Amino acid sequence: MNIIVTDRPEQAFKKAADIIACEIHHNPRPVLGLATGRTMESVYRLLVERYETAMLDFSTTTSFNLDEYVGLLPTDKNSYRHYMQKHLFAHVNMPVAQIHVPNGTATDLDAECAEYEANIQGAGGIGLQILGIGNTGHIGFNEPPSPFDSRTRVVHLDDITRRQNSGMFGNDPSRVPERALTMGVGTILEARKLVLVATGAGKASIVDAALNGPINENVSATAIRLHPDSTVILDDAAASIWKGNRRQGS
Ligand code: F6R
Repeated sequence: MNIIVTDRPEQAFKKAADIIACEIHHNPRPVLGLATGRTMESVYRLLVERYETAMLDFSTTTSFNLDEYVGLLPTDKNSYRHYMQKHLFAHVNMPVAQIHVPNGTATDLDAECAEYEANIQGAGGIGLQILGIGNTGHIGFNEPPSPFDSRTRVVHLDDITRRQNSGMFGNDPSRVPERALTMGVGTILEARKLVLVATGAGKASIVDAALNGPINENVSATAIRLHPDSTVILDDAAASIWKGNRRQGS
């Protein structure tokens, strides 16, 4: 695992954007796994800037988002499909037929999950998967405990996550959907490259658990340490506890 620590969050976002741009440049048919959340907003802004200055062409890129809330229409302003439209898809030339976000309003959610997995396989698998990390240690919405061989499925969101994500729901955690569809940890581990980005002091403790703690299914992000090509990009604040513990040799 490669760990990059930057002085400032902007440098961490730029590193992530550089890696994504490189993946797009160097593949005739890139397949990206995408995440949502506050961390990714800055990364997508940088990618849009590069598209606008003709440095990046998304026309051959296929994307698969990690997750979606159950019950929210793609047009709902709190859905992840809407988030992606607002922050990336509306501004770049990725053909709509190449965009995949789980459908949280499918009548048969299990069938939707199975089809999502099949579509990833059909695209040749994910080349580069971008990840954030939640306060429960989740990647995607793989709340504790999530088996490392789990696949795309319906999950119940942890109360900690519903609090974390309540900002978009009038700061009322009870308005955050109780369930979501998410790629599984096993699905994520099959991507050829993983890049996890975390910034800010609020992430320092869970980053330490992910990087220094025992590898186990109660902190899904520890799974990335099992991947042969994973990179973690942190700013100084998010790295602070991990660095301290590492110095003590624990
Ligand atoms: C969202 C996702 C989540 C977020 C994580 C961090 O698609 O997969 O795992 O990446 O909750 O969210 P932020 O960036 O808002 O702290």
